Amino acid sequence: MSLQTKIKDSSAVVGVIGLGYVGLPLLAAFHRAGFPTIGFDIDPAKITALKKGENYLKHLGSEMTQDLLKGAKFDATADFSRMGEADVLISCVPTPLGKHLEPDLTYVEKTADDIAKTLRPGQLIVLESTTYPRTTRDVMLPRFEARGMKCGQDFYVAYSPEREDPGRKDFHTQTIPKLVGGIDPISGELATALYKRAIEKVIPVSNAEVAEAAKLLENIYRAVNIALVNEMKMVLTAMGIDVWEVINAAATKPFGFQAFYPGPGLGGHCIPIDPFYLTWKAREVGMNTRFIELAGEINHHMPEYVVHRTSLALNDRGKAVKGSRILVLGLAYKPDVDDVRESPSFELIEKLEELGGEVDYHDPHVPATHKMRRHDLQMKSIQLTPEALKGYDCVLVATHHQAYDWQMVADNAKLVVDTRNALKGVRGRRDHIVMA
Ligand SMILES: NC(=O)c1ccc[n+]([C@@H]2O[C@H](COP(=O)([O-])OP(=O)(O)OC[C@H]3O[C@@H](n4cnc5c(N)ncnc54)[C@H](O)[C@@H]3O)[C@@H](O)[C@H]2O)c1
Repeated sequence: MSLQTKIKDSSAVVGVIGLGYVGLPLLAAFHRAGFPTIGFDIDPAKITALKKGENYLKHLGSEMTQDLLKGAKFDATADFSRMGEADVLISCVPTPLGKHLEPDLTYVEKTADDIAKTLRPGQLIVLESTTYPRTTRDVMLPRFEARGMKCGQDFYVAYSPEREDPGRKDFHTQTIPKLVGGIDPISGELATALYKRAIEKVIPVSNAEVAEAAKLLENIYRAVNIALVNEMKMVLTAMGIDVWEVINAAATKPFGFQAFYPGPGLGGHCIPIDPFYLTWKAREVGMNTRFIELAGEINHHMPEYVVHRTSLALNDRGKAVKGSRILVLGLAYKPDVDDVRESPSFELIEKLEELGGEVDYHDPHVPATHKMRRHDLQMKSIQLTPEALKGYDCVLVATHHQAYDWQMVADNAKLVVDTRNALKGVRGRRDHIVMA
Protein backbone atom coordinates (compact mmCIF):
# COMPACT_ATOMS: atom_id res chain seq x y z
CA MET A 1 0.00 0.00 0.00
CA SER A 2 1.37 3.46 -0.84
CA LEU A 3 2.24 5.93 1.91
CA GLN A 4 -0.42 8.26 0.50
CA THR A 5 -3.10 5.62 1.04
CA LYS A 6 -1.79 4.77 4.50
CA ILE A 7 -1.96 8.46 5.46
CA LYS A 8 -5.50 8.68 4.08
CA ASP A 9 -6.80 5.70 6.05
CA SER A 10 -4.73 6.46 9.21
CA SER A 11 -2.84 3.19 9.00
CA ALA A 12 0.60 4.82 8.55
CA VAL A 13 2.73 4.08 11.61
CA VAL A 14 3.96 7.42 12.96
CA GLY A 15 7.24 7.31 14.88
CA VAL A 16 8.23 10.37 16.91
CA ILE A 17 11.88 10.68 17.94
CA GLY A 18 12.56 12.74 21.07
CA LEU A 19 9.62 12.70 23.47
CA GLY A 20 10.10 16.07 25.19
CA TYR A 21 8.07 19.28 25.28
CA VAL A 22 7.59 19.10 21.51
CA GLY A 23 7.63 15.39 20.66
CA LEU A 24 5.23 14.07 23.28
CA PRO A 25 2.23 16.33 22.52
CA LEU A 26 2.86 15.81 18.80
CA LEU A 27 2.80 12.05 19.18
CA ALA A 28 -0.40 12.36 21.21
CA ALA A 29 -1.98 14.46 18.43
CA PHE A 30 -1.29 11.74 15.81
CA HIS A 31 -2.49 9.05 18.19
CA ARG A 32 -5.70 10.98 18.81
CA ALA A 33 -6.15 11.19 15.01
CA GLY A 34 -6.17 7.38 14.97
CA PHE A 35 -2.63 6.66 13.78
CA PRO A 36 -0.61 3.81 15.29
CA THR A 37 2.34 5.53 16.99
CA ILE A 38 5.78 4.63 18.31
CA GLY A 39 7.75 6.99 20.53
CA PHE A 40 11.56 6.82 20.46
CA ASP A 41 13.77 8.36 23.16
CA ILE A 42 17.23 7.76 24.59
CA ASP A 43 15.90 8.37 28.10
CA PRO A 44 14.73 5.03 29.55
CA ALA A 45 12.86 6.79 32.39
CA LYS A 46 10.57 8.46 29.82
CA ILE A 47 9.87 5.15 28.10
CA THR A 48 9.01 3.46 31.42
CA ALA A 49 6.72 6.33 32.45
CA LEU A 50 4.84 6.34 29.13
CA LYS A 51 4.29 2.59 29.21
CA LYS A 52 2.61 3.09 32.61
CA GLY A 53 0.51 5.99 31.33
CA GLU A 54 2.44 8.52 33.46
CA ASN A 55 3.27 11.99 32.22
CA TYR A 56 6.66 13.43 33.16
CA LEU A 57 5.59 16.75 31.63
CA LYS A 58 3.23 17.85 34.37
CA HIS A 59 1.65 20.77 32.48
CA LEU A 60 0.28 18.31 29.87
CA GLY A 61 -1.56 16.19 32.44
CA SER A 62 -1.75 12.43 32.87
CA GLU A 63 -4.95 12.15 30.83
CA MET A 64 -2.86 12.59 27.70
CA THR A 65 -0.52 9.71 28.51
CA GLN A 66 -3.30 7.47 29.82
CA ASP A 67 -5.16 8.00 26.54
CA LEU A 68 -2.10 6.69 24.68
CA LEU A 69 -2.76 3.30 26.24
CA LYS A 70 -6.29 3.31 24.77
CA GLY A 71 -7.50 3.44 21.13
CA ALA A 72 -4.92 3.18 18.34
CA LYS A 73 -1.74 1.19 18.90
CA PHE A 74 1.01 2.90 20.88
CA ASP A 75 4.45 1.81 21.91
CA ALA A 76 7.50 3.59 23.35
CA THR A 77 11.02 2.34 23.00
CA ALA A 78 14.72 3.17 23.27
CA ASP A 79 15.46 0.52 20.65
CA PHE A 80 16.26 2.54 17.52
CA SER A 81 16.61 -0.56 15.36
CA ARG A 82 12.79 -0.46 15.37
CA MET A 83 12.70 2.79 13.37
CA GLY A 84 12.13 0.74 10.21
CA GLU A 85 8.69 -0.22 11.60
CA ALA A 86 7.47 3.35 11.17
CA ASP A 87 6.13 4.69 7.87
CA VAL A 88 6.74 8.23 9.07
CA LEU A 89 9.55 9.38 11.38
CA ILE A 90 9.35 12.84 12.93
CA SER A 91 12.45 14.07 14.72
CA CYS A 92 11.99 16.43 17.68
CA VAL A 93 15.42 16.21 19.29
CA PRO A 94 17.19 19.17 20.97
CA THR A 95 19.14 21.79 19.02
CA PRO A 96 21.21 23.62 21.65
CA LEU A 97 24.18 25.96 21.29
CA GLY A 98 27.80 25.04 21.87
CA LYS A 99 30.12 26.93 24.21
CA HIS A 100 30.87 29.59 21.61
CA LEU A 101 27.23 30.13 20.60
CA GLU A 102 27.64 27.84 17.59
CA PRO A 103 24.83 25.43 16.59
CA ASP A 104 25.19 22.04 18.23
CA LEU A 105 23.63 19.66 15.72
CA THR A 106 24.96 16.47 17.32
CA TYR A 107 21.43 15.31 18.28
CA VAL A 108 20.09 15.94 14.78
CA GLU A 109 23.06 14.16 13.21
CA LYS A 110 22.82 11.20 15.57
CA THR A 111 19.09 10.82 14.84
CA ALA A 112 19.68 11.03 11.08
CA ASP A 113 22.33 8.30 11.40
CA ASP A 114 19.90 6.15 13.40
CA ILE A 115 17.12 6.65 10.83
CA ALA A 116 19.52 5.89 7.95
CA LYS A 117 20.39 2.48 9.43
CA THR A 118 16.86 1.15 8.87
CA LEU A 119 15.70 3.49 6.10
CA ARG A 120 13.43 1.68 3.66
CA PRO A 121 11.47 2.64 0.54
CA GLY A 122 8.22 4.47 1.26
CA GLN A 123 9.33 6.16 4.50
CA LEU A 124 8.71 9.85 5.14
CA ILE A 125 11.16 11.66 7.45
CA VAL A 126 10.31 15.05 8.93
CA LEU A 127 12.57 17.26 11.01
CA GLU A 128 10.80 19.51 13.54
CA SER A 129 13.75 20.74 15.60
CA THR A 130 14.47 24.45 15.23
CA THR A 131 17.60 24.99 13.13
CA TYR A 132 19.27 27.11 10.43
CA PRO A 133 18.11 26.95 6.79
CA ARG A 134 19.42 23.98 4.77
CA THR A 135 19.95 21.71 7.81
CA THR A 136 17.39 19.21 6.49
CA ARG A 137 18.93 19.23 3.02
CA ASP A 138 22.63 19.46 3.92
CA VAL A 139 22.85 17.57 7.23
CA MET A 140 20.08 14.97 7.14
CA LEU A 141 19.51 14.16 3.48
CA PRO A 142 23.08 13.03 2.56
CA ARG A 143 22.96 10.48 5.40
CA PHE A 144 19.82 8.95 3.87
CA GLU A 145 21.00 9.11 0.26
CA ALA A 146 24.19 7.31 1.27
CA ARG A 147 21.91 4.26 1.51
CA GLY A 148 21.60 4.35 -2.30
CA MET A 149 17.97 5.52 -2.44
CA LYS A 150 16.61 8.71 -3.96
CA CYS A 151 14.58 11.35 -2.12
CA GLY A 152 11.20 12.11 -3.71
CA GLN A 153 11.21 8.73 -5.39
CA ASP A 154 12.16 6.02 -2.88
CA PHE A 155 11.74 7.95 0.36
CA TYR A 156 10.58 11.45 1.33
CA VAL A 157 12.01 14.25 3.51
CA ALA A 158 10.43 17.46 4.80
CA TYR A 159 10.83 20.12 7.47
CA SER A 160 7.99 21.34 9.66
CA PRO A 161 8.82 23.69 12.51
CA GLU A 162 7.27 23.17 15.91
CA ARG A 163 5.55 26.24 17.32
CA GLU A 164 4.63 24.74 20.68
CA ASP A 165 4.33 27.16 23.62
CA PRO A 166 4.24 24.92 26.71
CA GLY A 167 1.81 26.04 29.39
CA ARG A 168 -0.32 28.04 26.95
CA LYS A 169 -4.03 27.51 27.41
CA ASP A 170 -5.52 29.16 24.28
CA PHE A 171 -3.52 27.18 21.70
CA HIS A 172 -2.16 23.63 21.65
CA THR A 173 -0.45 21.30 19.18
CA GLN A 174 -3.61 20.60 17.17
CA THR A 175 -4.71 24.22 16.88
CA ILE A 176 -1.38 25.91 16.17
CA PRO A 177 -1.14 26.32 12.36
CA LYS A 178 1.67 24.19 10.95
CA LEU A 179 4.15 25.16 8.24
CA VAL A 180 5.42 22.35 6.01
CA GLY A 181 8.17 22.49 3.39
CA GLY A 182 9.49 19.50 1.45
CA ILE A 183 12.96 18.77 0.10
CA ASP A 184 11.07 18.24 -3.19
CA PRO A 185 7.41 18.76 -4.20
CA ILE A 186 6.34 15.14 -3.58
CA SER A 187 7.87 15.09 -0.09
CA GLY A 188 6.14 18.40 0.66
CA GLU A 189 2.76 17.09 -0.53
CA LEU A 190 3.02 13.88 1.50
CA ALA A 191 4.08 15.70 4.67
CA THR A 192 1.25 18.23 4.20
CA ALA A 193 -1.28 15.41 3.76
CA LEU A 194 0.05 13.74 6.92
CA TYR A 195 -0.14 16.81 9.15
CA LYS A 196 -3.61 17.66 7.84
CA ARG A 197 -4.85 14.46 9.49
CA ALA A 198 -3.79 15.63 12.97
CA ILE A 199 -3.49 19.43 12.86
CA GLU A 200 -6.36 21.81 12.12
CA LYS A 201 -4.52 24.17 9.76
CA VAL A 202 -1.51 23.22 7.64
CA ILE A 203 0.27 25.75 5.45
CA PRO A 204 2.49 24.28 2.75
CA VAL A 205 5.45 26.46 1.72
CA SER A 206 7.75 26.17 -1.30
CA ASN A 207 10.50 24.12 0.28
CA ALA A 208 12.19 23.03 3.52
CA GLU A 209 14.40 26.15 3.61
CA VAL A 210 11.42 28.53 3.72
CA ALA A 211 9.95 26.58 6.63
CA GLU A 212 13.31 26.51 8.47
CA ALA A 213 13.85 30.26 7.98
CA ALA A 214 10.25 31.14 8.92
CA LYS A 215 10.69 29.47 12.30
CA LEU A 216 13.89 31.41 12.93
CA LEU A 217 12.21 34.67 11.90
CA GLU A 218 9.42 34.05 14.43
CA ASN A 219 11.89 33.55 17.27
CA ILE A 220 14.22 36.37 16.21
CA TYR A 221 11.19 38.67 16.10
CA ARG A 222 10.47 37.79 19.72
CA ALA A 223 14.10 38.15 20.84
CA VAL A 224 14.44 41.57 19.19
CA ASN A 225 11.14 42.89 20.56
CA ILE A 226 11.89 41.62 24.06
CA ALA A 227 15.26 43.39 23.87
CA LEU A 228 13.47 46.56 22.80
CA VAL A 229 11.15 46.56 25.82
CA ASN A 230 14.03 45.61 28.11
CA GLU A 231 15.90 48.66 26.86
CA MET A 232 12.76 50.79 27.28
CA LYS A 233 12.48 49.47 30.83
CA MET A 234 16.00 50.58 31.74
CA VAL A 235 15.54 54.02 30.17
CA LEU A 236 12.04 54.67 31.54
CA THR A 237 12.91 53.37 35.00
CA ALA A 238 15.79 55.87 35.14
CA MET A 239 13.21 58.56 34.27
CA GLY A 240 10.79 57.37 36.95
CA ILE A 241 8.20 56.20 34.39
CA ASP A 242 6.36 52.88 34.73
CA VAL A 243 7.30 50.88 31.60
CA TRP A 244 4.48 48.37 32.07
CA GLU A 245 1.87 51.13 32.07
CA VAL A 246 3.55 52.62 28.99
CA ILE A 247 3.41 49.27 27.13
CA ASN A 248 -0.22 48.71 28.05
CA ALA A 249 -1.05 52.25 26.96
CA ALA A 250 0.70 51.70 23.59
CA ALA A 251 -1.09 48.38 23.19
CA THR A 252 -4.47 50.16 23.03
CA LYS A 253 -3.58 51.05 19.44
CA PRO A 254 -5.62 48.55 17.42
CA PHE A 255 -2.98 48.07 14.70
CA GLY A 256 0.77 48.34 14.17
CA PHE A 257 1.82 47.48 17.71
CA GLN A 258 2.22 44.18 19.50
CA ALA A 259 2.91 44.20 23.23
CA PHE A 260 6.02 42.48 24.55
CA TYR A 261 6.97 42.65 28.21
CA PRO A 262 10.32 43.10 29.92
CA GLY A 263 11.76 40.59 32.36
CA PRO A 264 14.90 39.47 34.16
CA GLY A 265 16.42 37.99 30.99
CA LEU A 266 15.63 35.40 28.36
CA GLY A 267 14.86 31.78 29.15
CA GLY A 268 13.70 28.54 27.57
CA HIS A 269 15.05 26.34 24.84
CA CYS A 270 14.08 28.72 22.00
CA ILE A 271 14.44 32.49 22.25
CA PRO A 272 17.92 32.67 23.87
CA ILE A 273 19.26 30.06 21.44
CA ASP A 274 17.62 29.91 18.03
CA PRO A 275 18.53 33.40 16.75
CA PHE A 276 22.22 32.47 16.99
CA TYR A 277 21.67 29.59 14.58
CA LEU A 278 21.08 32.23 11.92
CA THR A 279 24.00 34.38 13.10
CA TRP A 280 26.30 31.40 12.59
CA LYS A 281 24.87 30.45 9.21
CA ALA A 282 24.86 34.06 7.96
CA ARG A 283 28.66 34.17 8.18
CA GLU A 284 28.76 31.60 5.40
CA VAL A 285 27.34 34.23 3.04
CA GLY A 286 29.52 36.99 4.49
CA MET A 287 26.73 38.67 6.46
CA ASN A 288 26.43 39.91 10.03
CA THR A 289 23.12 39.66 11.89
CA ARG A 290 23.35 42.98 13.75
CA PHE A 291 19.78 42.98 15.11
CA ILE A 292 20.29 39.54 16.60
CA GLU A 293 23.64 40.45 18.15
CA LEU A 294 22.29 43.68 19.64
CA ALA A 295 19.18 41.98 21.01
CA GLY A 296 21.38 39.25 22.48
CA GLU A 297 23.61 41.85 24.12
CA ILE A 298 20.70 43.68 25.76
CA ASN A 299 18.85 40.53 26.82
CA HIS A 300 21.98 38.91 28.23
CA HIS A 301 22.66 42.02 30.28
CA MET A 302 19.29 41.87 32.06
CA PRO A 303 20.25 39.58 34.99
CA GLU A 304 23.13 41.96 35.74
CA TYR A 305 20.76 44.93 35.62
CA VAL A 306 18.36 43.19 38.02
CA VAL A 307 21.19 42.38 40.44
CA HIS A 308 22.33 46.01 40.27
CA ARG A 309 18.79 47.24 41.04
CA THR A 310 18.58 44.76 43.91
CA SER A 311 21.87 45.93 45.41
CA LEU A 312 20.75 49.58 45.11
CA ALA A 313 17.43 48.77 46.79
CA LEU A 314 19.25 47.05 49.66
CA ASN A 315 21.72 49.93 49.86
CA ASP A 316 18.82 52.39 50.25
CA ARG A 317 17.83 50.39 53.33
CA GLY A 318 21.36 50.47 54.74
CA LYS A 319 22.22 46.95 53.65
CA ALA A 320 24.72 45.30 51.35
CA VAL A 321 24.06 42.23 49.21
CA LYS A 322 26.84 40.60 51.23
CA GLY A 323 25.26 38.93 54.23
CA SER A 324 21.67 39.74 53.15
CA ARG A 325 19.12 36.94 52.99
CA ILE A 326 17.50 37.00 49.56
CA LEU A 327 14.60 34.88 48.32
CA VAL A 328 14.14 34.38 44.58
CA LEU A 329 10.52 33.62 43.63
CA GLY A 330 10.26 31.50 40.48
CA LEU A 331 12.97 29.30 39.03
CA ALA A 332 11.14 28.28 35.84
CA TYR A 333 11.75 30.68 32.96
CA LYS A 334 8.06 31.44 32.49
CA PRO A 335 4.83 31.18 34.48
CA ASP A 336 3.05 27.96 35.36
CA VAL A 337 5.54 25.47 33.91
CA ASP A 338 8.40 23.46 35.42
CA ASP A 339 10.79 24.20 32.53
CA VAL A 340 14.03 25.72 33.89
CA ARG A 341 16.12 25.53 30.71
CA GLU A 342 18.23 28.70 30.26
CA SER A 343 16.18 30.34 33.03
CA PRO A 344 17.66 33.69 34.10
CA SER A 345 16.81 32.82 37.74
CA PHE A 346 19.92 30.63 37.83
CA GLU A 347 22.12 33.53 36.82
CA LEU A 348 20.41 35.82 39.33
CA ILE A 349 21.05 33.34 42.14
CA GLU A 350 24.67 32.77 41.12
CA LYS A 351 25.42 36.49 40.75
CA LEU A 352 23.85 37.34 44.12
CA GLU A 353 25.77 34.51 45.78
CA GLU A 354 29.01 35.75 44.17
CA LEU A 355 28.35 39.08 45.89
CA GLY A 356 27.97 37.31 49.24
CA GLY A 357 24.18 37.12 49.40
CA GLU A 358 22.57 34.16 51.18
CA VAL A 359 20.10 33.08 48.53
CA ASP A 360 17.12 30.70 48.66
CA TYR A 361 14.46 30.09 46.08
CA HIS A 362 10.84 29.05 45.94
CA ASP A 363 9.04 27.63 42.94
CA PRO A 364 5.77 25.69 43.22
CA HIS A 365 6.68 23.75 40.06
CA VAL A 366 10.37 23.06 40.76
CA PRO A 367 10.87 21.35 44.13
CA ALA A 368 14.63 20.95 43.63
CA THR A 369 17.31 21.87 41.12
CA HIS A 370 19.08 19.28 39.00
CA LYS A 371 22.41 19.40 37.22
CA MET A 372 22.22 21.37 33.97
CA ARG A 373 24.66 22.16 31.20
CA ARG A 374 25.83 25.43 32.75
CA HIS A 375 24.52 25.31 36.33
CA ASP A 376 24.52 22.99 39.29
CA LEU A 377 22.96 24.87 42.20
CA GLN A 378 21.97 21.85 44.33
CA MET A 379 19.14 23.77 46.01
CA LYS A 380 15.68 22.89 47.26
CA SER A 381 12.61 25.09 47.10
CA ILE A 382 11.78 26.55 50.55
CA GLN A 383 8.32 26.49 52.16
CA LEU A 384 6.66 29.78 51.31
CA THR A 385 4.87 31.07 54.43
CA PRO A 386 4.30 34.56 55.85
CA GLU A 387 6.88 33.77 58.56
CA ALA A 388 9.44 32.62 56.01
CA LEU A 389 8.93 35.81 53.95
CA LYS A 390 9.49 37.97 57.03
CA GLY A 391 12.91 36.38 57.50
CA TYR A 392 14.36 37.70 54.20
CA ASP A 393 15.97 41.08 53.61
CA CYS A 394 14.77 41.01 50.01
CA VAL A 395 12.33 39.02 47.90
CA LEU A 396 13.21 39.01 44.21
CA VAL A 397 10.29 38.17 41.88
CA ALA A 398 11.70 36.40 38.82
CA THR A 399 8.68 34.42 37.54
CA HIS A 400 5.02 35.36 37.95
CA HIS A 401 3.46 31.94 38.54
CA GLN A 402 -0.31 32.13 39.01
CA ALA A 403 0.02 30.05 42.17
CA TYR A 404 1.59 32.98 44.02
CA ASP A 405 -0.43 35.05 46.44
CA TRP A 406 1.14 38.44 45.71
CA GLN A 407 -0.81 40.16 48.47
CA MET A 408 0.74 37.74 50.96
CA VAL A 409 4.17 38.49 49.50
CA ALA A 410 3.60 42.27 49.70
CA ASP A 411 2.19 42.08 53.23
CA ASN A 412 5.08 40.09 54.67
CA ALA A 413 8.26 40.93 52.71
CA LYS A 414 10.54 43.73 53.96
CA LEU A 415 11.60 44.57 50.41
CA VAL A 416 10.36 43.24 47.06
CA VAL A 417 12.26 43.61 43.79
CA ASP A 418 9.73 42.91 41.06
CA THR A 419 10.98 42.09 37.54
CA ARG A 420 7.52 41.09 36.22
CA ASN A 421 5.11 43.74 37.49
CA ALA A 422 3.60 40.85 39.41
CA LEU A 423 2.64 43.02 42.37
CA LYS A 424 0.73 45.61 40.35
CA GLY A 425 -2.61 44.71 41.93
CA VAL A 426 -1.63 44.57 45.59
CA ARG A 427 -3.32 46.85 48.09
CA GLY A 428 -1.70 48.87 50.84
CA ARG A 429 1.77 50.36 51.03
CA ARG A 430 4.07 50.12 48.02
CA ASP A 431 7.18 51.91 49.27
CA HIS A 432 8.90 48.56 49.79
CA ILE A 433 8.31 47.47 46.16
CA VAL A 434 11.07 48.26 43.66
CA MET A 435 10.75 47.58 39.94
CA ALA A 436 13.69 46.00 38.13
N1 LIG B 1 10.13 23.59 24.08
C1 LIG B 1 9.55 24.41 23.24
O1 LIG B 1 8.73 25.20 23.64
C2 LIG B 1 9.87 24.38 21.75
C3 LIG B 1 9.02 25.08 20.88
C4 LIG B 1 9.26 25.05 19.52
C5 LIG B 1 10.36 24.35 19.03
N2 LIG B 1 11.18 23.68 19.88
C6 LIG B 1 12.30 22.93 19.30
O2 LIG B 1 11.99 21.54 19.32
C7 LIG B 1 13.16 20.77 19.56
C8 LIG B 1 12.98 19.90 20.78
O3 LIG B 1 12.77 20.72 21.90
P1 LIG B 1 12.10 20.19 23.24
O4 LIG B 1 11.78 21.39 24.03
O5 LIG B 1 11.01 19.22 22.94
O6 LIG B 1 13.33 19.41 23.88
P2 LIG B 1 13.30 18.37 25.10
O7 LIG B 1 14.65 18.40 25.70
O8 LIG B 1 12.11 18.62 25.95
O9 LIG B 1 13.08 16.98 24.37
C9 LIG B 1 14.02 16.36 23.57
C10 LIG B 1 13.93 14.87 23.79
O10 LIG B 1 14.82 14.25 22.87
C11 LIG B 1 15.43 13.15 23.53
N3 LIG B 1 16.63 12.80 22.78
C12 LIG B 1 17.84 13.40 22.79
N4 LIG B 1 18.67 12.79 21.93
C13 LIG B 1 17.97 11.80 21.34
C14 LIG B 1 18.29 10.82 20.37
N5 LIG B 1 19.49 10.78 19.81
N6 LIG B 1 17.33 9.96 20.02
C15 LIG B 1 16.10 10.01 20.59
N7 LIG B 1 15.74 10.90 21.51
C16 LIG B 1 16.67 11.80 21.89
C17 LIG B 1 15.65 13.65 24.94
O11 LIG B 1 15.82 12.59 25.85
C18 LIG B 1 14.35 14.42 25.18
O12 LIG B 1 13.33 13.60 25.71
C19 LIG B 1 14.30 21.79 19.67
O13 LIG B 1 14.90 21.95 18.43
C20 LIG B 1 13.59 23.05 20.06
O14 LIG B 1 14.30 24.21 19.67
C21 LIG B 1 10.94 23.67 21.23
